[in-house]
Amino acid sequence: MAKTKNNTLKLQFDTTWNYAPAPESKSIASIKPRYELFINGEFVKPSSKKYFDTINPANEEKLSEVADANAADIDKAVKAARTAYDKVWSKMPAKERAKYIYRIARMMQERAREFAVIESLDGGKPIRESRDFDVPTAANHFFYYAGWADKLEYAFPNRTAVPLGVAGQIIPWNFPLLMAAWKVAPAIATGNTVVLKPAETTPLTALKLAEIIQEADLPPGVVNIITGAGATGAAIVNHPDIDKIAFTGSTDVGKIIQKAIAGTNKKATLELGGKAANIIFEDAPLDQAVEGVINGIFFNQGHVCCAGSRLYVQESVYKTVLRKLKDRLETLIVGDPLDKNTDIGAINSKQQLETIHKYIKIGQQEGAEMFQSSCALPGKGYFCRPTLFTNVAQSSRIAQEEIFGPVLTIQTFRTEDEVIEKANNTPFGLSAGVWTDKGSKIFNMTTKMRAGVVWANTYNKFDPTSPFGGYKESGYGREGGLHGLSAYVNLI
Ligand code: NAI
Ligand code: MG
Repeated sequence: MAKTKNNTLKLQFDTTWNYAPAPESKSIASIKPRYELFINGEFVKPSSKKYFDTINPANEEKLSEVADANAADIDKAVKAARTAYDKVWSKMPAKERAKYIYRIARMMQERAREFAVIESLDGGKPIRESRDFDVPTAANHFFYYAGWADKLEYAFPNRTAVPLGVAGQIIPWNFPLLMAAWKVAPAIATGNTVVLKPAETTPLTALKLAEIIQEADLPPGVVNIITGAGATGAAIVNHPDIDKIAFTGSTDVGKIIQKAIAGTNKKATLELGGKAANIIFEDAPLDQAVEGVINGIFFNQGHVCCAGSRLYVQESVYKTVLRKLKDRLETLIVGDPLDKNTDIGAINSKQQLETIHKYIKIGQQEGAEMFQSSCALPGKGYFCRPTLFTNVAQSSRIAQEEIFGPVLTIQTFRTEDEVIEKANNTPFGLSAGVWTDKGSKIFNMTTKMRAGVVWANTYNKFDPTSPFGGYKESGYGREGGLHGLSAYVNLI
């Protein structure tokens, strides 16, 4: 320990305090050199004959290449899904459907370590996150929705739940396996069939899921997993025989999808961006609050739609909170995603790193004051130091736009009404956090904040039983819980 300039104790990460490297072994991860499209229960070559690389963002090395599906491939996948829907899946007794979904959940648990390692290799997130959060939560979603499959009359009393048909599902790169589980599990539990597209930078765990689905003997065509970039996603959205689009990703693409399906019978759930406010009142347990703020924005490189990227601190405790935050920032370990001690892994892609750097520059140009941790960054790969901005104007771009990186803006407030107004002053409304000792304050805040989820004295907590989704430009529809089921059925 050493004293810093302002006389606070600070951990020194010199050689005496460095953790020894503790990398998770890669040997458990079997990654094929090339992946085809998973259509009608088989891996088939793309009609485009084209493939693209997926790399490890922590060292920029190629991990594998995956098929680039075009409109003809999408058509094949949709036809397989339609046939499976008409002939098999919608007709199967629900309790039989449930057995398949339980089987997928159990197989995912059995191969949890392999999934976690591949998730961290392909996307750059710390193994601690993929091992302790992404993979178990993904398996839990399959378990949870398997349980509902034959109990829909209890989910929707006095109504009959009828599946929608074929669902096109497009997911992003920040929680690749978990987003696949969020989308596939409720869809097939309610009797729909699926064409799923993972993001182009993180296709590998979805393709592993395809392997499990094949081994689980799920009837061919019930789940089809196809890879490609934006054009492939657009081909799914525009296919005339899709009944429902479920999308998670940027607000820009969400708007394109909304326009594309306007005037059609396609239903949609859109889970888009966020700019969540995390609010610390003077009566909050400050150490826990600081830890919650760190967890909320830095632990997943800020690649979280509900990331607490705007911090509001009550004026009387501002100095204390800022000092604690800076001290904690200095102790965060940035580096190898496979190392069990790593807090902040690799930024998912070069493009995303450039976006984050662009916003850091904008913050400085707008006159905000920047503080970055002094940690060393690995020589190769896409990494970003955790960054704080103070002296931030409410109207500044770094306080208004989604950065999707480890960048936190900090502002102060005096009263509850003032902070509610500031927190709501954003085009988004996905989530928020409140830190206070007073239950009444929590209730007041949760009713007045326009956010789909409000966490109190915690942050980024997820559970399959709990619905998730946003207001305003954060999208519409809910995933998770009963609400997540109702997004895949018509009630008659
Ligand atoms: P994106 O929205 O372009 O990508 C998400 C998914 O949509 C990917 O599978 C992609 O292939 C697909 N896609 C792209 N264009 C499409 C189109 N025209 N039609 C159908 N599907 C399409 O997100 P991107 O470019 O990777 O990230 C840009 C920004 O979006 C990030 O900086 C972040 O702010 C935000 N974002 C938000 C996410 C969230 O969870 N809400 C997740 C990922 C990104
Ligand atoms: Mg990758």
